Amino acid sequence: MIKLDRRDFIASLGGAAAVASMTHEAKADALEDALAGGMQGAKSTPMAQPTPGVPEGTFPTAQQVKAAITTRPYRRGAGVLFESKLLANIYSPPPPDTVPMLTPMPPRAGLKDFIRLRFQWSVDHCLQSAANAQRNGMDEEIQFACLIHDHPQNLMRVDHGHWGGQLYQPYVSERVHFAVKHHAALRFFPDEKVGYTYPDLYRSMFGHDYVPPAHVQAEYEMVKKHKYYSAARAVTVNDLYAFDPNKKIPADAFDHLIDKHWRDPKEGLGYDDSTAAHLWRSLSYPDTPL
Ligand SMILES: [Fe+2]
Ligand SMILES: [Fe+2]
Repeated sequence: MIKLDRRDFIASLGGAAAVASMTHEAKADALEDALAGGMQGAKSTPMAQPTPGVPEGTFPTAQQVKAAITTRPYRRGAGVLFESKLLANIYSPPPPDTVPMLTPMPPRAGLKDFIRLRFQWSVDHCLQSAANAQRNGMDEEIQFACLIHDHPQNLMRVDHGHWGGQLYQPYVSERVHFAVKHHAALRFFPDEKVGYTYPDLYRSMFGHDYVPPAHVQAEYEMVKKHKYYSAARAVTVNDLYAFDPNKKIPADAFDHLIDKHWRDPKEGLGYDDSTAAHLWRSLSYPDTPL
């Protein structure tokens, strides 16, 4: 059973005084981030780490966030499978500065195999998002979109909504594809009507004066007029509150949604010559040098 260390988590946010000054929203986001990072605390999650030179309890500027790039041995957009610090959260003992050996994928692997063997880092967070959607009365497709929404971060964190859209498109409905593809961009834009406000965590991650680039703003303008806007927004809303350090959801709790809303190719993911096949192969054998 993986546990969240309360003291480590608070320390990672700058101590009790800093936590006391955070809004509920900021705490929720920080906790979500910690949980997505293997449920073990934000101290090992780069997103929640303080920007060098920025006082505790304050937000950096976008320029300070940019200046911190050369202080790290990795790029923050790298997929978790390719970056040891985040993977270390789910192994005991953790490999300190190395990546762990991966179990080979079985022949004709399907989504459940990838969740079990390649998506361990994001599985609890996604299960809790799906449970949250179920609790909030969302329909099955939304629950399913929540169940798979952040697994693409194992392949690539930067622009992970779009990577997810490409990864899943051949195997899901148009509505699920749209919801996963655009959930990430919507997190930059509040929608108070459904209870979504701009997260303080993003002020820490991107800088308090960060302005999303033009293509992300254009994406939002398109999405908010789209017939599936509410589906994409529902993922961000149920994503935001998808945390509970004391709750462990069985890995197979939502398998019935995979059976109903996902189509595995008969050749196995990676071998069906689809537009996403190479992405699944990259997840299958990420240690191949070329
Ligand atoms: Fe996401
Ligand atoms: Fe998420």
